[in-house]
Amino acid sequence: MIKENLQLDENGRLRHFLTIEGLKRALLMELLDTAESFTSVTEQTVKKVPLLRGRTIVNLFFEPSTRTRTTFELAAKRLSADVLNINVPASATTKGETLLDTLRNLEAMHCDMFVVRHPNSGAAHFIARHAAPGVSIINAGDGRHAHPTQAMLDMFTIRRHKGEFHRLTVAIVGDILHSRVARSQIQALSTLGVKEIRIVAPRTLIPACAETLGVHVHHDLREGLRDVDVIIMLRLQRERMRGAALPSEHEYYQLFGLTEDKLALAAPDAIVMHPGPINRGVEIDSTIADGPRSVILQQVSHGIAVRMAIMSRAMQPRPSQEAAP
Ligand code: CP
Repeated sequence: MIKENLQLDENGRLRHFLTIEGLKRALLMELLDTAESFTSVTEQTVKKVPLLRGRTIVNLFFEPSTRTRTTFELAAKRLSADVLNINVPASATTKGETLLDTLRNLEAMHCDMFVVRHPNSGAAHFIARHAAPGVSIINAGDGRHAHPTQAMLDMFTIRRHKGEFHRLTVAIVGDILHSRVARSQIQALSTLGVKEIRIVAPRTLIPACAETLGVHVHHDLREGLRDVDVIIMLRLQRERMRGAALPSEHEYYQLFGLTEDKLALAAPDAIVMHPGPINRGVEIDSTIADGPRSVILQQVSHGIAVRMAIMSRAMQPRPSQEAAP
């Protein structure tokens, strides 16, 4: 667990966005409210506001991504920033350049913000500790550690459908052990004060520290889904599994896949979420993924407004910059 909180400047203003851990409820609510105000921008014919005009934002993705990378790019463009997408497999990292040297070289080009996805837990914190003054780092997913912007767009989606957090029971189902999304969601849901968080998974996919997370643990999906308001399904993260954590995908689907009969145990107006990418017929049935209770594609859309909110807050002028001529 990374304890150091580099995210706020000396005046308590957001500088980096690395993890939900340590952030106050008021800040999370402010970000959700700001995102709400940006949704109208994404619905206009001219989808732009000038908030980050003249700023340069770099997408630095060392792992594959469809949703996160593209919605960060769209969010930056809608804030009128210039965007650089670094093609990591075609960059000098393949010639042995270190992460820090890559950062230093891009900083030398006067870039203002780096959106970083990396397979190593802690990579975004590492970069933030070494970033030049005035440069912001946004964590777009680091190893098994955190995916805070995903958690925020998930909270935004939940609030839009369900209103007040304190009335809600939320079940997170699937590969909790390897999921940076689950970790960030649990932190966000706890901070926002939901009534109950359940995690539902086979014993081999539950972290050893589960009891310290303030959640109820279930190994039976039917039990875990009973009367919940929100169901968040997770993908099996095969790329992070060592050894055989599961007997087979077929058996997993039988026990932990979300099907119509299991969904019927949740509250009648329960919503179904998934951060994506989804694996149909492994953790979720297609009739549910594409059905009326699914808000999976809304989560993707909301990612733009939420990332606009986070980027604009992290790059708001500091007192020293405001004083400059
Ligand atoms: N949810 C998510 O992080 O998806 P991508 O890997 O496509 O960015």
